[in-house]
Amino acid sequence: MLATATPAFVPTDYEWLRLRFEADRRSRSDALLSRVREHCTGRPTLRVLDLGAGAGANLVYLAPRLPVDEQDWVLVDRDGALLDRVPACCRALGSASPSMEVEPGRLRVGGQRVRYQTIVGDFVTDARVYEGRWDLVVANAVFDLLPEPAIARFFERARWAFGDGCPPLYFTLNLDAGPAFHPESPEDEPVRALFHAHMRRPQALGRALGPESARAVARIAERFGFIVHAEQSPWQLGPSEARMLHAKLDFVENAVTEMVNAERGTARLGFGIDALARWMAARRAQVDRGELSLTVAHRDLWLTPGFGALAR
Ligand SMILES: C[S@@+](CC[C@H](N)C(=O)[O-])C[C@H]1O[C@@H](n2cnc3c(N)ncnc32)[C@H](O)[C@@H]1O
Repeated sequence: MLATATPAFVPTDYEWLRLRFEADRRSRSDALLSRVREHCTGRPTLRVLDLGAGAGANLVYLAPRLPVDEQDWVLVDRDGALLDRVPACCRALGSASPSMEVEPGRLRVGGQRVRYQTIVGDFVTDARVYEGRWDLVVANAVFDLLPEPAIARFFERARWAFGDGCPPLYFTLNLDAGPAFHPESPEDEPVRALFHAHMRRPQALGRALGPESARAVARIAERFGFIVHAEQSPWQLGPSEARMLHAKLDFVENAVTEMVNAERGTARLGFGIDALARWMAARRAQVDRGELSLTVAHRDLWLTPGFGALAR
């Protein structure tokens, strides 16, 4: 039954975060990563704050790529259970880097010593985020979950608390548009519209930005005096990536089902549960035959403070 189908993943599940790591890794903009590395070059130590860190995907990806031997990271997330899984996640994802040794609170990669601590809290409101002194603030795949006023509040607090010592912000994999399926079908547009309406639905903390997050973060950053460098970082999921494709279809199915059910009995939607069931069945069959691919547009952002010297 579509309406009661259990999703294989929800977007903040540990297994999903592990699964998406490889797609994120391939998609990140090399040009912006070069700017980040340039900012770090020559520093004996590096203090990094990771917003919405989840199980540590940013840590395991970025720390070995930053040219600093002594790194101290603070990972903040409101989900303490995910933070508890950072060592397991680093072990699982760091296996691509044969020299990575993982212990709770510590990674060692070649000559690099990377220490990390965790904060369970909301990074928009938690005072510890703004009391710290950071050389770099990072966030991967976070801002589509937040409403615009929360993001504006983060920038306002960061600008006020960090002042002239404000570090640059490196925010990757910010959603920039909806999923584009290949081959296309005429029902993609209503499905996409309902999927986005679900992301943007009113929730306890407000309406999440969803696919508008990349542009909204850039706009807000500029308003608070940051210089915005943006590069595209799309996911390009090919037919061989059946697990990712099925997971994305699960997300779409659950979100659109909820929206269609909410509108049931009204004349507002020209797209019903039967049309969704046909669309899902056709898309899943395409995945199983190796015929579907999917592009999800994202942007990476490198935001440097235009209002004072960069923190050194
Ligand atoms: C899609 S996950 C990405 C996790 C991780 N950055 C990664 O790349 O795997 C988004 C994470 O942001 C966290 N998050 C969202 N809003 C937050 C907030 N205001 N404060 C703290 N964590 C937040 C969620 O709990 C979730 O773990």
